[in-house]
Amino acid sequence: MTDPVPANSRDSWATRAGFILAAVGSAVGLGNMWRFSYVAAEGGGAAFVLLYIAFVAVIGVPIMTSEFVVGRMSQESPVVAVQRLGGPKWAPLGWLFVFCGFGILSYYSVVAGWTMRYAFDAVRGGLGTDTEAYFQSVATGAPAILSHLVFMVLTVFIVVAGVKRGLERAALILMPILFFLLVGLAIWAATLGDAGAGYGYYLRPQVRELLDPNVIRLAAGQAFFSLSLGMGAMMTYASYLTSKENLGREAATVAVADFGVAFVAGLVIFPVIFHFGLASTIGLGGGISDNTVGTLFITLPTGLKSLGTLGGIVLGAFFIMLFFAALTSAISLLEVVVAAVIDGWGWSRRQAAIWFGVLIALAGIPAAFNINFLDAADKFVGNFLLIVGGFFTAILVGYAIPQRADEELAKGLENPAPRRAWAFFVRYLSPALLLIVIWFMLPTAWRAVVTMLTFGRG
Ligand code: TRP
Repeated sequence: MTDPVPANSRDSWATRAGFILAAVGSAVGLGNMWRFSYVAAEGGGAAFVLLYIAFVAVIGVPIMTSEFVVGRMSQESPVVAVQRLGGPKWAPLGWLFVFCGFGILSYYSVVAGWTMRYAFDAVRGGLGTDTEAYFQSVATGAPAILSHLVFMVLTVFIVVAGVKRGLERAALILMPILFFLLVGLAIWAATLGDAGAGYGYYLRPQVRELLDPNVIRLAAGQAFFSLSLGMGAMMTYASYLTSKENLGREAATVAVADFGVAFVAGLVIFPVIFHFGLASTIGLGGGISDNTVGTLFITLPTGLKSLGTLGGIVLGAFFIMLFFAALTSAISLLEVVVAAVIDGWGWSRRQAAIWFGVLIALAGIPAAFNINFLDAADKFVGNFLLIVGGFFTAILVGYAIPQRADEELAKGLENPAPRRAWAFFVRYLSPALLLIVIWFMLPTAWRAVVTMLTFGRG
């Protein structure tokens, strides 16, 4: 999409595949591997996974459908769209979207920088003998800032130069490879001695934990983050749609693809964690250590190192592909901010992307210095605010414009039964569940704000 276009003409997807690909490209990213593994570990494994599936199906798909509906209906960037549809009092929701895009990208880029650094060092011949020490040395301070800045420059470059089509074509090839690589790794992980213990932790839920507010809040937050929901990213992409797709089916397709990648990643991570005795390094079965956030970055390299040269090659390939997955997600985050600035202030795409790229890069520096800060930003913006954004998106669609939303959905979905189910979900079920989740999240969200304000000490 959006090769550079004259200010007042909107580009659109040439094909249905182009749209799906960009939406999957946004969804599949660090969230599926880095964040999924660390949050699943924090949330007790299997109970988390089961709740996660439930949230993807019951809230994720309906909210994504809502974002698609709003985007295609308005043909506008989210900030304009919510006001045009709901009236001026909806403006704050648009600002919230932009704030989330800004905030998430600021630390997302730090983690993406780690991936870049890992890929680079793995290709150059290894990550040293002690993976944990290596992680510590590249994940904070000057090395982290450097990789973060390089990643931001790349992201801005892609959004400015309008080479997204090229990137999407690259993603078309790279994402299936990433998936097959993951499947291959999962098969290898299955051969490890203690794989059974890993599967047990990952797949056998404890009923008691299913009702644990902490697990519930983590699962809901992860569903929103991983599906790129709650901040207008999917809305933006759908605003470039002009044809009459069945938006409900598209949302389900994106959700299934996204979940598939995360699930298989878990089948790799947990056997490795247990086999190589890493449970304590990442805070399992003990207090949560700083390294919970580094789960993927410590376990996978430690495991693969046991395979010698071949392991090194696989590791390099894995992080290169993870880097591409992160890039297609990062551009969707920046796109929301840039589209708002273009529409709101009349800036050129170039100006908007460069200036806001610089601001986001600066905003990411605290996260590059301090993992606690990164973790807190992720909890507050990447969990809490997304859920808030999703709640109000449901209210907008379910209460402010229910009739028009239904007509828009009907363009590709004639059968009224699924539309009625969707209307019920966005009007009643999703807002009710999201309110409960918001309630459960308040203490952590507050603590995260304190942590950020005290720079990682709170
Ligand atoms: N979903 C992406 C991931 O899993 C991250 C992401 C991209 C995102 N765009 C978003 C998260 C919008 C929330 C909202 O890595």
